[in-house]
Amino acid sequence: MSLSPAFLDELRQRTLLSALVGRTVKLQRAGREFRACCPFHNEKSPSFYVNDEKGFYHCFGCGAHGDAIRWLTDQRGLGFMDAVRELAQAAGLEVPAPDPREARRAEQARGLHELMADAARWFADQLEGAGGGAARDYVARRGISPSTRTAFGIGYAPDNRQGLRRALAGYGDALLIEAGLLIAVEGKEPYDRFRDRLMIPIRDPRGRVIAFGGRIIGQGEPKYLNSPDTPLFDKGRTLFNLDRAAAAARREGRMIVVEGYLDVIALAQAGIGAAVAPLGTALTEQQLERLWRHVDQPLLCFDGDGAGQKAAYRAATRALPHLQPGRSLAFLTLPPGQDPDDLVRAGGAAAFEQLAAKPEPLVDRLWRHEVEAAPLTTPEQRAGLRKRLALLAAEIGDGDVRAQYQAEFRQRFEASYLARPPRGGGSFSGGFGSRPAPFRADGRGGRAAGGQAALPGSFPR
Ligand code: UTP
Ligand code: MN
Repeated sequence: MSLSPAFLDELRQRTLLSALVGRTVKLQRAGREFRACCPFHNEKSPSFYVNDEKGFYHCFGCGAHGDAIRWLTDQRGLGFMDAVRELAQAAGLEVPAPDPREARRAEQARGLHELMADAARWFADQLEGAGGGAARDYVARRGISPSTRTAFGIGYAPDNRQGLRRALAGYGDALLIEAGLLIAVEGKEPYDRFRDRLMIPIRDPRGRVIAFGGRIIGQGEPKYLNSPDTPLFDKGRTLFNLDRAAAAARREGRMIVVEGYLDVIALAQAGIGAAVAPLGTALTEQQLERLWRHVDQPLLCFDGDGAGQKAAYRAATRALPHLQPGRSLAFLTLPPGQDPDDLVRAGGAAAFEQLAAKPEPLVDRLWRHEVEAAPLTTPEQRAGLRKRLALLAAEIGDGDVRAQYQAEFRQRFEASYLARPPRGGGSFSGGFGSRPAPFRADGRGGRAAGGQAALPGSFPR
């Protein structure tokens, strides 16, 4: 029987991994993680870590790695379903009843996985073959090296309505349609969805191909044609390249979110492996949750133009209900009209690293947006700013984080837009006991936006 990804996510989220592991292994607290001598190999000094926020354990000695379910199967030797049942019981969750349709779906998923792997191989072969010349030229013109092409499994769908359908006929039309590779129209032969396109495989976190992004060769519309949602592919939960980026993120200590497939590929080629991309839509909450399993503060990289900045603000507000102590976002703003692909092509990894060295924290991004949103010359306008900030902070789900934002916004607002009479000493302070507000047209009031100097009365971070 198979369980839905949503159920398994819920199960992981409701399980405190350190408590589970702690039942059989003596854990020591180490900052926000726990540490122990690794139960999977023999060692004298501890290199096994448990991270509750990410829901993962990891051993830097032997590479053992997994979540709560994995712990029970690998360490306690339970079968998968027994592990799920045990965790569900502890979490007070009901395991969905076995369902013959589910069983059929699991069977079908196995077939689909094989089919997608074969399709990816076939596309890759076409790119290397006689008909792939123009596509190979295009790839080369985009500065993608043959080894990058291989690493990402890039392929080519020939300009033929029956090419893939014939090559993979053994799977049958029904499965090919289910996989989104054929289009079925009533009364006509099913035909290949992807034709004369560069094929970029999209993999799941376990590295299996679940969909494709097909780019037109050169100019034209639509630029990309993507697989539809299928039993394997849920666009809103998927991040392009997450499987490889997760490994790189452990080495690089960061995870970067960019907008396009080609950006991810160009960054990887430049040696920056920890990059992922959503599939052409705004970041969803599920995608944010996935990112947070790997890093505390994903770096979202957006174009400096209007559309990019709107997308950045949307991601920022979408994250608010899900912030946790220590868990946030930060932003990298590209020069307007440039994407990371352009940036590394022109200036190499160094150009990107220069940008990545100064991420803008979420709080600054929000502040900047609201300050720049409208003029602040009248008292009413400034009160409007204060109100917008209060509404934003109110979106934050976690009480501690919310209180921190409220305090920080209040402080910044007061420092920039509310003057206080000078403290102490009998100096003149004018007839109304206050000076005019130190308004600055750029919205970066005195000490507020710099963030470097210690603010009097500020909260420790
Ligand atoms: P971009 O237009 O920025 O494309 O779209 P790109 O990735 O930089 O590609 P190149 O450099 O022009 O070749 C960003 C992402 O939006 C999705 C794709 O996921 C793309 O990578 N997209 C874009 C679509 O799904 N369909 C489209 O028609 C265009
Ligand atoms: Mn691009």
